[in-house]
Amino acid sequence: MNRVTVIGSINLDTNLRVRKMPKPGETIHATGHYSAAGGKGANQAVAAARSGCKVSFIGGVGNDAPGSEMLNLLKKEGINTSGIITAPHESTGQAFITVDDNGQNSITIYAGANYAFGPNEVVQNKALIANSDFLIAQFETPLEATIKGFEIAHAEGVTTILNPAPALTEIPADLLKLTDIITPNETEAETITGIKVIDEKTAQEAAAKLHQQGVATVIITIGAKGAFYDYQGQYALIPAFKVKAIDTTAAGDTFIGAMTSVLKPDLTNLKEAILFANKASSLTVQKFGAQPAIPFAKDIKLVK
Ligand code: RIB
Ligand code: NA
Repeated sequence: MNRVTVIGSINLDTNLRVRKMPKPGETIHATGHYSAAGGKGANQAVAAARSGCKVSFIGGVGNDAPGSEMLNLLKKEGINTSGIITAPHESTGQAFITVDDNGQNSITIYAGANYAFGPNEVVQNKALIANSDFLIAQFETPLEATIKGFEIAHAEGVTTILNPAPALTEIPADLLKLTDIITPNETEAETITGIKVIDEKTAQEAAAKLHQQGVATVIITIGAKGAFYDYQGQYALIPAFKVKAIDTTAAGDTFIGAMTSVLKPDLTNLKEAILFANKASSLTVQKFGAQPAIPFAKDIKLVK
């Protein structure tokens, strides 16, 4: 069983279904409304736990009802929440997600307590990182906290996975040097490298840029086309499973969590792990919401 620590965000998601995305200045009616647990970090942690990983979390919630609800939900997943602080003066993170009839989403986040911790809290949880096979982080929490976490991981021989979402145009060089695996989606890959990723060839070009910046293993998810990997001179696009997407929210998070749960720390089974992750995210896109849509190992194994 892999052990993973996630440094990441915890959000209460408010989801709105719409026929078409509103244009600037336009008012439209939603066709449905619900709330669910989310946050890229928490989603990845839940995906890893449901796929059979032993998961610890470093992050922050507010001292409010959504905060205690989110914490309880993570505990119910069997996730070690001892590294999550409760911030006295910030509200729990929130995300406002609009999903259209094609299952595409657009998301606005209010970070709140997700930014109420930093490198000190990461250092206090050094043992969690040191006892892990993998450390995962995204960009919905303070960069300095992630850099500190990756420094610790590096010193302890723990494999680091950076999900550069939401995308930053300038990722600090220090962080990329400490990153073993980077997992952008196609739009994030374009923001980071300037290369529009649409297929295997363009993905390989973007991957080459990331290799130059010191990241040995690049995995680019390209929506319904699948996931491209490039490491140690091997590369391939592993096609996605063809399904009807009703809500793609947390599909990328599911991919990362599920992949990490089966990946050998020496990455020798990367291709199999990506196939498993593709199966997992094909299930997530067929359900509404972030965490309510994330599948368990037993269901992922049934995908043919
Ligand atoms: O990746 C999906 C997630 O992004 C949502 O759950 C939302 O909270 C935002 O963090
Ligand atoms: Na979904």
